[in-house]
Amino acid sequence: MTAIQYNPEEYQIFQTFLENACGIVLGDNKHYLVNSRLSKLLREENIASLTDLVSKIDNVVGMNPLKSKVIEAMTTNETLWFRDGFPFEILPETIFTEYKNQKKNQVKILSAACSSGQEPYSISIIADEFSKKNFGANMQFQIVGIDIDQSILNNAREAKYESMALARGLSEERKQRYFNQQGNYWQVNADIRSRVTFREHNLMQSYASLGKFDVVFCRNVLIYFSAQSKKDILSRLAAMLNPGGYLFLGASESIVQYSESFNMIRTPKGVVYQLKP
Ligand SMILES: C[S@@+](CC[C@H](N)C(=O)[O-])C[C@H]1O[C@@H](n2cnc3c(N)ncnc32)[C@H](O)[C@@H]1O
Repeated sequence: MTAIQYNPEEYQIFQTFLENACGIVLGDNKHYLVNSRLSKLLREENIASLTDLVSKIDNVVGMNPLKSKVIEAMTTNETLWFRDGFPFEILPETIFTEYKNQKKNQVKILSAACSSGQEPYSISIIADEFSKKNFGANMQFQIVGIDIDQSILNNAREAKYESMALARGLSEERKQRYFNQQGNYWQVNADIRSRVTFREHNLMQSYASLGKFDVVFCRNVLIYFSAQSKKDILSRLAAMLNPGGYLFLGASESIVQYSESFNMIRTPKGVVYQLKP
């Protein structure tokens, strides 16, 4: 791999571009990341430097294919099934049970930064298991997955996973019950898929078009953003929650310092945030 040539000023231009485009703060020492993620793209597009890349993108208004490709290359899509366990236990045991007791029929859940779909499909599996255990409750679950990365969303919509990706967090029992084997892939079954829709959306932009939700998963993405972006995103997430709505963050993320809109609920399983009255 030939290293991309750039001086500190060009690196700074790229840092600013990336943060404006998708919120990701690229540290001053992330040169290896720029090289490993962008060399191939620059070669393919015949672009000589980081400055040329940014100016080529800036010459086009709004989102364009090159900008999308750079964002796709620079974002980290790491994800797995039932990640960290606890949100997927608190969801049925505390939140869905509360809604059942309130006789709430429609439950809307947002999986923000959903990557290749493991998070929203894990939620849908939990909804399915809850519905079967609580047959009379007649609850409908609607799950929306959003991500900035169009190509990862296409994978999510396809819902096909190789055995290696499937093994990460998924029990054999759930695999047999909720997936169908198709050659080298396993596809999430139609019932589980039917509750989930996907939309391309940048967390840095207005959420008005997404509507209101009862529960928001925004996990393992805020870590990449600046303090100000975290504050802005948490305030917009608070505004899109219905009264008493819940927010799950990643295991290493917290709202402390960034938002006063939520109460922290400590359960024996882990932490969930609830919108203040
Ligand atoms: C590490 S994955 C987290 C996936 C999942 N939430 C989980 O916890 O397993 C981070 C995802 O955030 C997405 N992302 C990064 N910046 C974004 C932005 N500004 N708007 C929406 N999604 C973004 C990436 O494309 C990537 O799929």
